[in-house]
Amino acid sequence: MNDTTEHASLRIIRLDHQRLAVVTTAMLGFVRALCEGGPAPDPIVLRAMLYYIREYPEQFHHPFEDRYLFAALRHRTDDFDDVLDELQCEHIEGDVRLRNLEHALTRFELKGEAVLPGLRTPMEQYVAFCANHRRVEETFVLPAARRLLSEGDWARLDTVLADRSDSFGEATFEGESLESLYRLIAHAVPALGEMGQDT
Ligand SMILES: [Fe+2]
Ligand SMILES: [Fe+2]
Repeated sequence: MNDTTEHASLRIIRLDHQRLAVVTTAMLGFVRALCEGGPAPDPIVLRAMLYYIREYPEQFHHPFEDRYLFAALRHRTDDFDDVLDELQCEHIEGDVRLRNLEHALTRFELKGEAVLPGLRTPMEQYVAFCANHRRVEETFVLPAARRLLSEGDWARLDTVLADRSDSFGEATFEGESLESLYRLIAHAVPALGEMGQDT
């Protein structure tokens, strides 16, 4: 593989990150619109966004990184152990933050505007947390993997990702698969429609 060709696994990880950036940015815009009293989509859209993150990054993206990509890099070098340890802790922390956001949305649905700050603040913190997590992976981990993993490593990672795609149909939100859910979210929030739909 020459320098200009991207491994399939890296391409999928970057696309996952792009979509995560799109959805989390839209979630923040949604909550800010609620706080400012402007037009905002029905809260079911925010519920769908949270569900998408719960079912896709939490079920597929992070486990793939932990079990396969990070493990392969650890096998080749220990230079990145500290950063990989920190990223794996953040995968767990992100799950907790996401659960708190789901609870905050439920409180808003039950109690209304009075509890909106309790949704906005953790949402702002979550979006910044996710952005920094992706930045660290893209700045340090992905380039190191690209440099150090063997063709055999990449072949194994690509096989795992190919198997992963077979599972996408299992998770649904109100009858929608994750892929069609992403497209529904993109349709509901026009700003989403500009990115991440090239697959
Ligand atoms: Fe990650
Ligand atoms: Fe990631």
